[in-house]
Amino acid sequence: MRNVTKDNITDVFKGYMSDEMDPRMREVMGSLVEHLHDFAREVNLTHEEWRTGIAFLEGCAAIETEDHHEFVLASDVLGLSSLVDMLHSSPASTSSSVLGPFHVSGAPPLAVGGDMKRDFGGPMLLAEGVIRDTDGNPIAGAEIDIWQTAPNGLYASQDADQDMFSFHGLMTVGDDGRYAFTTVKPVEYTVPTSGPVGDILRACGRHPWRPSHLHYIVKAPGFKTLVTEIFPSDDPYLDQDTVFGVRDDLVMEYQEKQPSAFPDGMALSGKVSEPFLYVNFDVTLAPAAG
Ligand code: BEZ
Ligand code: FE
Repeated sequence: MRNVTKDNITDVFKGYMSDEMDPRMREVMGSLVEHLHDFAREVNLTHEEWRTGIAFLEGCAAIETEDHHEFVLASDVLGLSSLVDMLHSSPASTSSSVLGPFHVSGAPPLAVGGDMKRDFGGPMLLAEGVIRDTDGNPIAGAEIDIWQTAPNGLYASQDADQDMFSFHGLMTVGDDGRYAFTTVKPVEYTVPTSGPVGDILRACGRHPWRPSHLHYIVKAPGFKTLVTEIFPSDDPYLDQDTVFGVRDDLVMEYQEKQPSAFPDGMALSGKVSEPFLYVNFDVTLAPAAG
């Protein structure tokens, strides 16, 4: 096309795509460019604004490393990560939620009933539940990968004072599908704001806080892997999570219990002398797509 105009450029773009290309790629690229062009026309995007957008992408690329994923963080605070999650989450399973950038592979094994709190200060939390299929049967041998911040709001990978795997554990449940562990009550924390994503938050007048949460990845053969989080019902940031991760069924009440109510069969049984918090959170996994 020789006579490209602001009105026909989108169709010209689509006409440039080959008939032989992958049909899904045609659908995704065609729609992406259509929305990009409509966006530019709708806001009458100026050269300066276009340059600011390009500088944002360059800024993300400049600080992207194996341990720091600024593009993923951008997708998180724009709500795109959560939207993609929700588009593909199974209605029959526990809701999924954002993975975030702080999951690490190779977490040490944590026995059922094990302790992640160790000598860290802060309120003790006992979390337990049963991993079930959609008929309510326990899933024997399911694996639950758990991670959270230390009481200072930092993940182990962000904090030179923690060992590499503190507050990370990998548990395999028995025939009853039950998981249980003690830890410290997670705290609210801010997503990293020193890069270009921080600039977007500030430009939009937004805060960088996430409500406190525990992260789980729950897996079992024959089931769809679930990436999820648990939030306490009294957290002040529940209605304003900066990465849009909160779902109704993931908000749980943390009950305060007396030391005498601390159950047997835990690593810390017989050693708890202060009141502790307790949360029961059962997880339902959907069958893997046939
Ligand atoms: C997190 O919960 O670990 C997280 C999620 C999205 C962005 C930053 C952190
Ligand atoms: Fe987190």
